[in-house]
Amino acid sequence: MFGLHPSSRFKAAAAAACGALIFLGAGCGGELDVKQADRSTATLFYERCSGCHSLESANSYGSKPVGELSGGERTNGPNFNVRKVSRDDALYAIRNGGFSGAIMPANIVVGADAERLADFLDEYSGNGNSASNE
Ligand code: HEC
Repeated sequence: MFGLHPSSRFKAAAAAACGALIFLGAGCGGELDVKQADRSTATLFYERCSGCHSLESANSYGSKPVGELSGGERTNGPNFNVRKVSRDDALYAIRNGGFSGAIMPANIVVGADAERLADFLDEYSGNGNSASNE
């Protein structure tokens, strides 16, 4: 046999990736830093909203990169580690496509999904985690 067994090579790579994530203050191995009951909502946020918004509780980093003060892509939405949004504001944004209606698509999620995402943001946004930037 030459070198490492493929599966141990994979483990080494995974460990290295985890180190990088810990450095950013996030969990590792897909662990989300939320209550068990909120995990599926964190996953929903990750699937639907993480392209444009950051929220560590949902392992999402779609807002402007840390340290980038101007510019960025037009689709970079507010960073929810920093920005606190209430349930009502979140529902409004989801239904209308943000507050301006210009960039964020309206109704990415609807009905009960929209409600639980709004509750999720009400609880987890604005917690000021380390890897944050507006
Ligand atoms: C295509 C990119 C994009 C996606 C996808 C997206 N958003 Fe946004 N969102 C934005 C942008 C850009 C803004 C800021 C401009 C505005 O309000 O119109 C915004 C604004 C918001 C705001 C208002 C926050 C504030 O204080 O200004 C909320 C709440 C929000 N988004 C929630 C969500 C949720 C929840 C999802 C997933 C269902 C989502 N967004 C998906 C781009 C996106």
